[in-house]
Amino acid sequence: MIVREVNTHISIEPDRDSNKFGDQYYIVLTYGCQMNENDSERFAGQLKRLGYHSTTELEKADLIVINTCCVRESAEKKIHGKIGELKRYKALNPNIIIVIAGCMAQKEREKLLKKFSHLDIVIGTHNIHQLAELVQTVEAKREKVLAVWDQAERLAPDVPTVRKGQISAWVPIMYGCNNFCTYCIVPYVRGRERSRPLADIISEIEQLGKEGFKEITLLGQNVNSYGKDSEEGADFADLLKESDSIQSIARIRYMTSHPRDMNDKVIKVIQDSRKICEHFHLPIQAGSDKILDRMNRGYTTEYYCQLVKKIRDLIPGSSITTDIIVGFPGETDEMFQETLEFVKLIGFDAAYTFLYSQRSGTPAAQYEDQIPLAVKKARLKQLMDMQNQVSLTINKQLIHRTVEVLVEGFSKTDESKLMGRTRTNKIVIWEKGGPEKIGQLVNINVTSAQTWLLKGRLTFNDREEEN
Ligand code: SAH
Ligand code: SF4
Ligand code: F3S
Repeated sequence: MIVREVNTHISIEPDRDSNKFGDQYYIVLTYGCQMNENDSERFAGQLKRLGYHSTTELEKADLIVINTCCVRESAEKKIHGKIGELKRYKALNPNIIIVIAGCMAQKEREKLLKKFSHLDIVIGTHNIHQLAELVQTVEAKREKVLAVWDQAERLAPDVPTVRKGQISAWVPIMYGCNNFCTYCIVPYVRGRERSRPLADIISEIEQLGKEGFKEITLLGQNVNSYGKDSEEGADFADLLKESDSIQSIARIRYMTSHPRDMNDKVIKVIQDSRKICEHFHLPIQAGSDKILDRMNRGYTTEYYCQLVKKIRDLIPGSSITTDIIVGFPGETDEMFQETLEFVKLIGFDAAYTFLYSQRSGTPAAQYEDQIPLAVKKARLKQLMDMQNQVSLTINKQLIHRTVEVLVEGFSKTDESKLMGRTRTNKIVIWEKGGPEKIGQLVNINVTSAQTWLLKGRLTFNDREEEN
């Protein structure tokens, strides 16, 4: 097996004549977080520039990219299964190019090439801009290629982007994470924090506005650290304020905020803004101070309660969502009860709940007091049951109220209905509405509520407009 390491810079060729090769198709399968989704858009952009067309059918693809996640074992298992499945496509079409990208590629590197002989390219998280060059190398030489840098250049060169949607767009504001929560693999596979220059971010948002996008989500593993690594002097609050002044954009969101770094200046900017949504995703991770300390989260439950109180006092009607891990090493029944009580106390609008997953290379994986899987599963179920009740109660309070919704498209389960989101990030579905409403802000009267969903109807004014 010839494994070639590519470490050079690329200059992407202008669009080449795809007819020279016959029509060639690519598909990018994305696992993991929004950061990966955005990286996939950058892969798609490079492939398009090489003359490839997009397809949604694996059977039709000449090039398959699997953009991977390794944050939990469950994600890795699923992806291993998928990679295995692709072997048959290689057997059917030996010229197909199979690329493994993302966090698992960064972690496993050449091991993936050894384990799966049908792979052609393994590309790391710091090498995203190199995909076009790597594909050209494989096309020309039919060699296997590994491109995984240990760390990023200060700022990766810009590459073309093909956006997945037309209403909402991701805009990365920083890469990497410096927090080293003891359970988490992300800092090892995404490197240290690097902030993009403010001017680049603002001009990307302005451009998106010109292209007709209505909502942008500023992305980073810890957006509140924005600017700390650069000389520019602008912090996250400054960035939010600048983004809020861009006329053509209707809504601004951001993910993810570390509770420790959420500060008064940011809350004040959100309070005074018009477009920044009143949705605070603040991952608590556990409701026990002992566990929080062992996780290296850098805050206590008391601090978190005060933070939520401040947000609710200053910005009434805000939604608060969170992430929670159950079964972290050393979590006793009592500590887990503390988490349950905390969930009830705060009244989260929604919580993403996870079984603790031992990630090799992280400190917590070495802790001796790991929790048996059956105990973790039982706790997860209890927590989900509790959270579902809380979410339903909160959502029911919205019945008979009017909410502003950005229309994203047709409901995935029922094409006769439209779907969108409130400013607080709740999904809303309603009947009767033509495609002309897509991309617009409408007012919906909420008629019923479920755990993860609101149903409603267009307000009289919005219906009038439609007629
Ligand atoms: N940067 C973000 C989260 C990135 S990972 C933040 O700090 O909030 C998304 C979520 O996955 C985390 O919030 C955490 O709840 C969960 N997670 C991370 N590592 C995990 C692990 N080893 N086991 C289970 N869940 C994990
Ligand atoms: Fe992982 Fe913690 Fe960084 Fe989030 S802040 S990515 S949980 S290390
Ligand atoms: Fe997964 Fe990497 Fe995101 S590990 S959660 S895809 S940063």
